[in-house]
Amino acid sequence: GAAKHPRDGGFSFAGPFGTFDQGQLQRGYKVYREVCASCHGMDLVHFRNLGDKHGPFWNPKYPNPNDNPVVKALAKEIQVADIDSETGEALMRDATTADRFPNPYPNATAAAAANGGAMPPDLSVMAKARHDGANYIYSLLSGYSTPPAGLKMAPGQHYNPYMAGDMTPFWEGKGHVPPGGFIAMPAPLQNGQVTFDDGTEATVDQMAKDVAAFIAWTSEPKMVERKQMGFGVLIFLLGFAGVTYASYRRIWKGVA
Ligand code: HEM
Repeated sequence: GAAKHPRDGGFSFAGPFGTFDQGQLQRGYKVYREVCASCHGMDLVHFRNLGDKHGPFWNPKYPNPNDNPVVKALAKEIQVADIDSETGEALMRDATTADRFPNPYPNATAAAAANGGAMPPDLSVMAKARHDGANYIYSLLSGYSTPPAGLKMAPGQHYNPYMAGDMTPFWEGKGHVPPGGFIAMPAPLQNGQVTFDDGTEATVDQMAKDVAAFIAWTSEPKMVERKQMGFGVLIFLLGFAGVTYASYRRIWKGVA
């Protein structure tokens, strides 16, 4: 059968007035950096974006995120590949706020080779690339389960009830074909895998939620502005409708 419907992550950014929870984005960045970044790149994200308005390390004291000391320090922790401008030699150096998040593999072939033939996709806009993205990512990461007895496992594959797929050809058990599909990514999260700076307990569920929120933010960093704009437009249209109606009443006053 089909994949299981994602569970609801209870995200602060759901709904027409939703905003990102900055603490959650900070925790999510930590999970991405310490767990996911060893396999997944985020090509569209620059370190300076971490300090953008509504972003994880936004601080109104630093309207230009390149000046934000926390963002600078986070960039400096990461090594990026570069070319020495004098000698033309390849080298590794500390990242700056101007750098993109580096890719874990030099190219797609190397990425696939390191993962049994399946390339880990870029996560920059993954919350937009999948339906109900944030809830899906949360559910996928926290939803790995023991394959049901009777499911013929393909080598290098893992069972996940939230992954798209069709288990019919692999099902030798009794009853309904189990939901979900095979995924080449092994369950990436284990309880206690990261240490959150705010003291939040790092359960699989918590880390999955937080990193899903982080990916929702990278996928649509201007979401809060979009929602605020939409609300402003509605208020304006409401007022304009009132003015239009009042003038209609006035123009037609006394006309039979
Ligand atoms: C696929 C997220 C860690 C290897 C994926 C997908 C997502 C994802 C959303 C796409 C699933 C789909 O197609 O619908 C994450 C997150 C991680 C993480 C948020 C950190 C918490 C890792 C790690 C590895 C890895 C550490 C390598 C050991 C892969 C591979 C695929 C994949 C190979 C492709 C799977 C396939 O197409 O069968 N990941 N991942 N991921 N990931 Fe990860």
